Amino acid sequence: MPTNRQFILSSRPKDLVTPEVLKLTESPLPTVAEGQALARVKYLSMDPTMRIWMADIPQYMPPVGLGEVMRAFGLAEVVESRHPDYKKGDKLMGLTGLQEYALISGKEARGFQKLPSIPFLSDVNFLGTLGITGLTAYFGLLEIGKPQSGETLVVSAAAGATGSIVGQIGKIQGCRVVGIAGSDEKCKWIQDELGFDAAVNYKHPDWKAKLSAATPNGIDIDFENVGGEIMQAVLDRMNLHGRVVLCGLISGYTKQDPALASFGQVLIKRLRVEGFIILDYASKYMDAAKQLGMWKMMGKLKDKQTIVKGFEKAPEAINMLFQGANTGKLIVEL
Ligand SMILES: NC(=O)c1ccc[n+]([C@@H]2O[C@H](COP(=O)([O-])OP(=O)(O)OC[C@H]3O[C@@H](n4cnc5c(N)ncnc54)[C@H](OP(=O)(O)O)[C@@H]3O)[C@@H](O)[C@H]2O)c1
Repeated sequence: MPTNRQFILSSRPKDLVTPEVLKLTESPLPTVAEGQALARVKYLSMDPTMRIWMADIPQYMPPVGLGEVMRAFGLAEVVESRHPDYKKGDKLMGLTGLQEYALISGKEARGFQKLPSIPFLSDVNFLGTLGITGLTAYFGLLEIGKPQSGETLVVSAAAGATGSIVGQIGKIQGCRVVGIAGSDEKCKWIQDELGFDAAVNYKHPDWKAKLSAATPNGIDIDFENVGGEIMQAVLDRMNLHGRVVLCGLISGYTKQDPALASFGQVLIKRLRVEGFIILDYASKYMDAAKQLGMWKMMGKLKDKQTIVKGFEKAPEAINMLFQGANTGKLIVEL
């Protein structure tokens, strides 16, 4: 009898995800009722926010309940349908959950989107450059950062899924772009292949001096993905009336430490700091995806995926995000 393997949230993590936190279970495949479709998950998107969803703290969506299937974005292919809008073979993207099969009714709070077939795009692009992380880069930088040609943009976690796209959009807008990342190899990739003007490895002891040298005219826009010491070093070099796009604070997600920087510089430099959640821009996704797709087709956006093979490796893959073990978009292939 065919079964569905699922990761269930069994306890709340203290730091990284351990086997006690996500338990692998197996149950019979659900029967497809009238108005439903069953989709087999092909790819799961690994997102730092999954660690936030596991915690019982106030957040932008309800935390995942203990005993529930872990929430996750994924790309799935319809294998059986009794739903008027979906047919066998359709590819869908949405909150599939951390499981092998998703039962879809079309009435989900956050609906599934049918993916178009576009020759120069592969399935994994819909989870990265044209998916949540690409859209996050697009709206965060353009709507909050409001980059102007000639300005200096600094992006942290710059070789990750979001940061690598932010930097390239910054270049399209005519900015001087400096990335901060956790290895020399990552720094080389964003500079040599993605066209960043400079890259700083924050694991080098003299990285703050290197950041200063890379930003001789100060910093106008901070696209902040990390928080803590990295954010502080960037704030220290911000120009008057600079903009801080508060996208993420990943250095604090696995700790009690909230990863904030001191707000003294915000006051002194009259900075504008604005947090955002990509769901705020849902009504404008289509137009943004078209622009991102166009840039990708023109070769102005390059991307990379780190692909972990095997559903059972998903918990380890989530931890990779906090260990800097990915370059570009981290995906689990089933
Ligand atoms: N606001 C929103 O709606 C929204 C949507 C999507 C993502 N985000 C945020 O955007 C950020 C990036 O997410 P992503 O999905 O694109 O992940 P990602 O950048 O592909 O992966 C995370 C990267 O963060 C870096 N990192 C992890 N722990 C760190 C630490 N303690 N100090 C410095 N760097 C650290 C690692 O790279 P290194 O090797 O460079 O350390 C790691 O590869 C996260 O903060 C995430 O929460 C926000």
